Amino acid sequence: MNVGKENAAMAALDFVEDGMTLGLGSGSTAEIFLERLGERVAGGMKVQGVPTSQRTAQVAKEHGVPLIEPDKVESIQLTIDGADEVDPQFSLIKGGGACLLREKIIAHASERMVVIVDPSKMVDTLGAFALPIEVDPFAMALTAEKIYAALMKSGCSDATTVLRQNKDGSGPLITDGGHFILDSECKKIPKPAETAHLLSKIPGVMEHGLFIDLADVIIIGETDHAKVMELARE
Ligand code: A5P
Repeated sequence: MNVGKENAAMAALDFVEDGMTLGLGSGSTAEIFLERLGERVAGGMKVQGVPTSQRTAQVAKEHGVPLIEPDKVESIQLTIDGADEVDPQFSLIKGGGACLLREKIIAHASERMVVIVDPSKMVDTLGAFALPIEVDPFAMALTAEKIYAALMKSGCSDATTVLRQNKDGSGPLITDGGHFILDSECKKIPKPAETAHLLSKIPGVMEHGLFIDLADVIIIGETDHAKVMELARE
């Protein structure tokens, strides 16, 4: 068990209020949160969740967390999700679990986003974790060229991009939305907002894993407590 992830997930429950519609993130930390949320639901808390992946929907059901279709919600008050990297400006890399498109749609639609991580995810500069980029399979080589150019233009000194494969060796990973994932190892992304802007302009890019100006709260789970950092947005 990762105690840091556990403590972060527990602390996120403090942000959940009765009656809320929640965006439910994906990944191992988000799944711990779902387990704890399920305990609250069993104790009488009334919430409903919009899952960001098929896997999260399945885990939420296992823990008795009620779900709702995204197009049936009036508003989403809070999204709780993990991250692969977090920088001091609360910019994130996400998508290690290949769910970044749906995660970003739901985070963007939420009034607030709480990110739960262990200390290993905190970095000074994003980029050691290869940036996941969800692309349409059509003309992927052309899209990859444009991605490389965007990374170079925005100050990444080099980038090696690989097509993500299924762990069982059965071929390229296909996301819940039917796309591929290109992982771009940049080592450092010095200007994440500029990189995000340039990547978003490429037609074949369905979405990229840079989450800029979306996280409001970062919860870092340490071994014996959780540190809560809030960003005041204007
Ligand atoms: C899923 O696509 C990702 O964005 C996850 O949120 C991220 O990879 C963090 O995963 P863990 O909580 O498993 O570290």
